[in-house]
Amino acid sequence: KGEREENETSKGLRVSDKGFLNTAVLRSEITYIDGDAGVLRYRYVFSIFMGDISSNGSRGYPIEDLAVHSSHLETAYLLIYGSLPSSSQLQVWEEEVAHHAVVHADAEQFFRSFRYDAHPMAILTSAFAYLGSYYSEANPSLQGQTLFTKGSLDSLAVMDKQIYRLIGKATTLAAMAYRVRQGRNFVTPPTGLSYTGSFLYQMDFLGQENYKPNPVLEKALDVLFLLHADHELNASATTVLQTGSSLVDPYSAIAAGCASLYGPLHGGANEAVIRMLISIGSPANVPAFIEAVKKREKVLSGFGHRVYKTSDPRSFIVRKTADEVFKVTGKDELLDTAMALHDAAMNDEYFIKRKLAPNVDFCFVFAGVASFIVPWCQSADITWSATQGPYNLIMVAPGGCDAVVDLGDQDGTSTTWTPNVAPGTQLEL
Ligand code: ACO
Repeated sequence: KGEREENETSKGLRVSDKGFLNTAVLRSEITYIDGDAGVLRYRYVFSIFMGDISSNGSRGYPIEDLAVHSSHLETAYLLIYGSLPSSSQLQVWEEEVAHHAVVHADAEQFFRSFRYDAHPMAILTSAFAYLGSYYSEANPSLQGQTLFTKGSLDSLAVMDKQIYRLIGKATTLAAMAYRVRQGRNFVTPPTGLSYTGSFLYQMDFLGQENYKPNPVLEKALDVLFLLHADHELNASATTVLQTGSSLVDPYSAIAAGCASLYGPLHGGANEAVIRMLISIGSPANVPAFIEAVKKREKVLSGFGHRVYKTSDPRSFIVRKTADEVFKVTGKDELLDTAMALHDAAMNDEYFIKRKLAPNVDFCFVFAGVASFIVPWCQSADITWSATQGPYNLIMVAPGGCDAVVDLGDQDGTSTTWTPNVAPGTQLEL
């Protein structure tokens, strides 16, 4: 009868559905997942109205096709607007996104206010919210009205602009978060590079003449972005929807989604995998680690998924991408431990019975993504002894990354010295 029965334990309890496993928020029109069959397609529902449109004649776009034939930005257009762009639409779209990649110069001050060892996801989350303070036309509270009047062309133009800004600036903000930790100056987004090429440039550029990002890494990162472009109603997308439902500005909603993604059970799992592999140390220690997981003393990060009860289809694509990356980077030392862990878990009754297979985050390691993620995420052990001069940072990444010492001057210039040091080494000036 719509009445709630309350007793001592249920007081204040409105909804109880752990993991939202039984609560339908809405049906995604963007992504279709069959978790039992390991299927991931984009724009499946749209294709029901439009007819069969994928290259193999089935509905929607299989992730495997897009990974080979599309790019991250083209796929983003498909997800947002419902169909793939024509070549002229794609050109305009790429130009708009690139045009909006630059952030206001004042943002540098904001980034500099973070501690040297701030986690980049904490910086990125804050940066999206910070961005919201710049664009009053996207903020219904400041406009004193609902932002988008359905069907109004003005509203659509305003909405498009926020889309360009969010996608264009996301990589700029992420690169700035990375450079804060490196104690390096920021790099203005370059012109004439692809979306991921520009991102790599902004992270890596140290003033080298004719510097260009490696095209293999550029392509690999593009595939990884594409694979993560949408994943139905996962925790972060649901968080964005819920936050946006109060009609807050889109930057604040994305900041909330970013915070959700940060968690080790969601996007933070790929960092957790790398930390786990570092802590295991070598293939010889894998059996003991597996036993600890079975005793529930440890979690096998990168295994299991709320929706997939078989292998995550993205994981196969990531492994293929890995082969290309390894030709450039050589094999990462974490890989042997990852392979041993993978084989041990896949052949162990405990994991088979629970349908625990590697998810996309575990396979990131195979893509040599350690070379992207380790420096971006790993908490640097930083000691500093500024006995003279305004020395900024002395950073030593425990995973064995190069140390970077930024001798920042008060006039804003800086000299970066990158010695090769053993993990955990402490440096003194
Ligand atoms: N390691 C060890 N045991 C596990 C793991 C794991 N990674 N995942 C699940 N289990 C066990 C549980 O203990 C449980 O065992 P029980 O039946 O004996 O109690 C059983 O498998 C089922 O576990 P659930 O928690 O019901 O699985 P669920 O599907 O709800 O959880 C989740 C999914 C949160 C992703 C989980 O598998 C996990 O924590 N994995 C590690 C974190 C991770 O890799 N997250 C990335 C997901 S992908 C993404 O977000 C981009």
